[in-house]
Amino acid sequence: MTVDWSPGSWRHLPALQQPDYPDAEALRRTLEELASLPPLVTSWEVASLRDQFAHAAAGQCFVLQAGDCAERFADCSSQRIANQLKILIQMSLVLVQGSKKPVVRVGRFAGQYAKPRSSNFEDVNGLRLPSYRGDLINRPEPSLDARLPDPCRLLRGYERAALTLNFIRALVKGGFADLHHPEYWDLDWTRHSPQAEEYHRLVHSITDSLHFMENILGSPAGGSDRIDFFTSHEALHLPYEQAQTRRVPHRPGWFNLSTHFPWIGIRTAAHDGAHVEYMRGIANPIGVKTGAGVSPSQLLRLSEILNPANEPGRLVLIHRCGVTKVEQVLPPLIEVIRREGRSVLWICDPMHGNTRTTSAGVKTRSFDDIEDELSKAFDIHAAHGSILGGVHIELTGENVTECTGGARGLSDDDLSRAYESEVDPRLNYEQSLELALLTARKLSRL
Ligand code: PEP
Ligand code: CO
Repeated sequence: MTVDWSPGSWRHLPALQQPDYPDAEALRRTLEELASLPPLVTSWEVASLRDQFAHAAAGQCFVLQAGDCAERFADCSSQRIANQLKILIQMSLVLVQGSKKPVVRVGRFAGQYAKPRSSNFEDVNGLRLPSYRGDLINRPEPSLDARLPDPCRLLRGYERAALTLNFIRALVKGGFADLHHPEYWDLDWTRHSPQAEEYHRLVHSITDSLHFMENILGSPAGGSDRIDFFTSHEALHLPYEQAQTRRVPHRPGWFNLSTHFPWIGIRTAAHDGAHVEYMRGIANPIGVKTGAGVSPSQLLRLSEILNPANEPGRLVLIHRCGVTKVEQVLPPLIEVIRREGRSVLWICDPMHGNTRTTSAGVKTRSFDDIEDELSKAFDIHAAHGSILGGVHIELTGENVTECTGGARGLSDDDLSRAYESEVDPRLNYEQSLELALLTARKLSRL
């Protein structure tokens, strides 16, 4: 058992990025109710993901972690959820083909409702408002009323996560075959790419493999339980996470059963902070974002605190360096982990180091920067005798215009057409599939 730890021991340490609730008693009642409700995931699913991460760290499978930057309550609809699963399945099949390995699918969904902010306040039309911190906490509209943290939203978020997960489980259980068959993929955009022919060859080879599998199995490949989805979110709102932290019969330890895979964001990853204290005691596989500004010795210390027994599959380091810095920042981080024999799964997040603001004040990312950072990360790991075991992408199955570039060459001027995100810009359906195709090509050549 972890020494001197309890689900609430984080309360003795400085907790960054926590909302300031005006009514402490209302918060207490809500947390009590949350703690009494059934869990969203099970300990055996959590244990299975931990095993699969151990395999990914050893290069035997590849992890695709992807989804919204921030889920919105309003997007909890059948269409949106199905589109999200569809793009994740399509990308994963492309990655299977490229890597010749199983792909583990982890959604940034069913609970990705809380966001860290760089400032506690925002000035809108001369009005000083508390920042929007995600639908779990407050509402994005620029009014004092909307921005007041409301504990009821913790329950609404928990319920929406349950509804999302329920629908995902139902879709996976049956009737999803047509969504993952390449015959039905929307590949119209490939006309705009110089790699069109190569893309079509790859997609045809997936179709052939699936048909081959189905002939052998005698049943549709997608109509089975073989397609698994795991959930993940940033474990930011500590009272919420604590309320869902449970013991289970027949397994030692404490599990956060609101998600399979919680991670710590880069802003809350101080080794002596409350988030690290909370995460060190749970039995889930856990992630930590890392990158520029984190020294090798800090990373080593974190890896020792969060994985003292050095167990494979326990700790995932998600690096987000930015395309201009990755060659300088990543090698010393890889080196210290390798030299000290720390067991970690490395995942590349090529999104969060590549955010820029256009001249019109719109937050965006360029497809080329994202692709470049990812490609460089594969090479850097290989050159240092390390394995890049997965990718972490912000995307949506919808036809939004939030990131520039991709085969259709979206420019800064195109962004206003369908920009929905309240926080970070996401790859759209086409850009996501294109990134998967380029990554598959990279994986096949490693
Ligand atoms: C995120 O994943 O949305 C995020 C805020 O990332 P980071 O902590 O790496 O900035
Ligand atoms: Co983000």
